[in-house]
Amino acid sequence: MKINSRGHLEIGGIDVLDLVKDFGTPLWVIDEQGFRQNCRSFKEAFQKMGDALVVYASKALSNTSICRMAAQEGLGLDVVSGGELYTALQAGFPVEKIYFHGNNKSPAEIAMALEAGIGRMVVDNFYELKLLSQICQAKDYTQDILLRITPGVEAHTHEFIKTGQIDSKFGFTLPDGQALKAVQAALDTPGVNLVGLHCHIGSQVFDMGSFRHAGSLMMDFMGEVKQHTGHEFSELDLGGGFGIFYCYGDEPADPVSWAEAVMPTVQEKARELNIPVPRVIVEPGRAICGPAGITLYTIGSSKEIPGIRKYVAIDGGMTDNIRPALYEACYTAIVANKADQDSEEVVSIAGKCCESGDMLIRDVNLPRVAAGDVLAVFATGAYGYTMSSNYNRLPRPAMVLVNEGAADLILRRETYEDILRNDIIPARLKK
Ligand code: LLP
Repeated sequence: MKINSRGHLEIGGIDVLDLVKDFGTPLWVIDEQGFRQNCRSFKEAFQKMGDALVVYASKALSNTSICRMAAQEGLGLDVVSGGELYTALQAGFPVEKIYFHGNNKSPAEIAMALEAGIGRMVVDNFYELKLLSQICQAKDYTQDILLRITPGVEAHTHEFIKTGQIDSKFGFTLPDGQALKAVQAALDTPGVNLVGLHCHIGSQVFDMGSFRHAGSLMMDFMGEVKQHTGHEFSELDLGGGFGIFYCYGDEPADPVSWAEAVMPTVQEKARELNIPVPRVIVEPGRAICGPAGITLYTIGSSKEIPGIRKYVAIDGGMTDNIRPALYEACYTAIVANKADQDSEEVVSIAGKCCESGDMLIRDVNLPRVAAGDVLAVFATGAYGYTMSSNYNRLPRPAMVLVNEGAADLILRRETYEDILRNDIIPARLKK
């Protein structure tokens, strides 16, 4: 990204004003090289230090083009629903590298995954273990599985996005012995082959010590399993959660420091406990697609309350980015057509939804703005589109992939017909 000679923001070699002209706003823009480079950075960092697989968490951003890029970069894929799995399959993603997560997979989703021959089911609870076993037995099939363990690690992140602590809806709890019971149950369960363990401590985590701690606890647990059952694992999946820069105060590490925090810990622990060094799997989502994305909006109305605040409204909001409303997430933005101008005022960016909480950014320094200006919000590649909605019956924006001066539509803008597509008027209302 840069500011070009016209004083406009440029991404993927294209003036964003040209993108706005061609595709309209709101517009999600993904920088292909940024996305691919992030895939490579994680892959190189981990594979340099031992046997590792980087699995892209598609919940952060999923569509068929995105899955294709992740596949081309040699990553695995984390899916958490039939919809994400279907997307991956339609994109031709190598099935053996698909990891299926989720705390309440339906029988239909499990059957679909087995039918496709996916690599790993990450079993979350006893109910799922039983269900999976029944379906596998009926098909005379054996599925490789990991068990999701809740190690009891507190990650320093927002309450709603931390998952490794004890009081969590996910996984088998480690400290109270449930995890060991789950391993024993899995070993006794026909139709499944227990190859590894999984944990995920939270999202937007900056503290590499939390990852190291989780890795160390999981290895200790593998040692404990060996002692109690003699079973050895070949995979340890340490989940995702690698934090990125959104706002001042966010200090992300680089992928190398993540690899350096966990790979030697796993290797040393294996030696110490006399168990095989498992293949390490990591599942970054946000860190791959987040920084590669920006959102473009057109500025419309403003409202100034003297001495209090100036609201500037854009043509999108919580429907294309729920994160500020849901997590008090913070973003930075610039006026893309005034990118070379100094800031002159502090304003708050409001969405257009009928909801007071629909505020995208509180207090951002911008040049003086006018209706028709284009606002570019940074680091919106993750969890914007995938958590989007049609609240107020707003059609979802389009998404374009930019690269070396080319822009390709990878997600069509929704139309009003799309909004009505599933509506049905029963005959008695037609009278
Ligand atoms: N693996 C597992 C098992 C996960 O549960 C998650 C995220 C990831 C990987 C990827 O985490 P990431 O690297 O993207 O942080 N909607 C929230 C984030 C929820 C994350 C849920 N699980 C947000 O917008 O911040």
